[in-house]
Amino acid sequence: MKATVRAHPNIALVKYWGKRDEALILPHQSSLSLTLAPIHVTTTVEFGAQADTVELHGHAAKGSERDRVLRLLDAVRVQAGRDLGPAKVVSRGDFPMAAGLASSAAGFAALAVAGRAAAGLPEDTRASSILARRGSGSACRSVQGGFCEWQRGERADGEDSYAVQRFDAGHWADLRMVVAIVDRGEKEVKSRDGMKSTVETSPYYPAWVKDAEAEVPRARELIAKKDLEALGELCERNAWRMHSTSLAADPPLCYLSSATLGLIQHLREQRKKGVPVWFTLDAGPNPVLLTDAAHEVAAEALARACGAVEVVRCVPGGDATLLSEHLF
Ligand code: DP6
Repeated sequence: MKATVRAHPNIALVKYWGKRDEALILPHQSSLSLTLAPIHVTTTVEFGAQADTVELHGHAAKGSERDRVLRLLDAVRVQAGRDLGPAKVVSRGDFPMAAGLASSAAGFAALAVAGRAAAGLPEDTRASSILARRGSGSACRSVQGGFCEWQRGERADGEDSYAVQRFDAGHWADLRMVVAIVDRGEKEVKSRDGMKSTVETSPYYPAWVKDAEAEVPRARELIAKKDLEALGELCERNAWRMHSTSLAADPPLCYLSSATLGLIQHLREQRKKGVPVWFTLDAGPNPVLLTDAAHEVAAEALARACGAVEVVRCVPGGDATLLSEHLF
């Protein structure tokens, strides 16, 4: 009745931005990401505890944070088809302080895989991805390593909306992602609220959906060929388009800071000088730089020269895995 899982976060190369179903977390478009190592989250789940308790990163979870965890475990109970009793959950991440990288994708992926294992359900990446998705959309792409594609699906019940691995972490071991923390502040508008407002008010949103859906197979082809330059260009284009559709929302949503723009400007200059480095940007000010192993030191130096207060160098990460040592 107890299981522990370690999962890595992921960074989208083609972003997910906007839900067609808020409750089930179903997206309007497909997305594609790379799982990132070495950073990870470890989660232990035990059913049959005295009472439901949820401890996240050293603190007792409260409010909507706690509810999201318990709702996911309710879905595990439904899958198990039996009364598993209350659950105890402890989760810890090794993310650097306020790294700006959301730990929720890794957290919900670890919770989904550990929850199923603790309930005695067999390993099943599809079922785990669907469960993880119900915690946080992007989490469905952290159940497996390497390059994962979240297929939007068509069904109203979401059973065809999950991530599949297109290439494992070993396919492009030379690829590097360098997270540049230029701003440690909490973002004003969380992704969940920002995407909702964009869907509801941005006149550009339908164009975003059409474009992002078409970029996924193109990105897949470029990853197959390991074409860094063309993939870098695609990533930047997709990030700009996600931010453009948000800027056009009412009220406008701007996640970029002056430090973000300064770094992007410098990155372009470096690229003209022959440094192969591109960026992507989630719903926040901290760019993630895409480069290869030979240039990760240069990418870090570039980020620091532009005022990055912290830099995290990442490599392609592997699957969420069961561990034999538990957190309690
Ligand atoms: C910009 O997965 O955090 O990082 O489904 O509401 O929990 P919810 O949102 P979340 O949003 C991620 C948005 C993004 C793009 C991406 O990761 O694809």
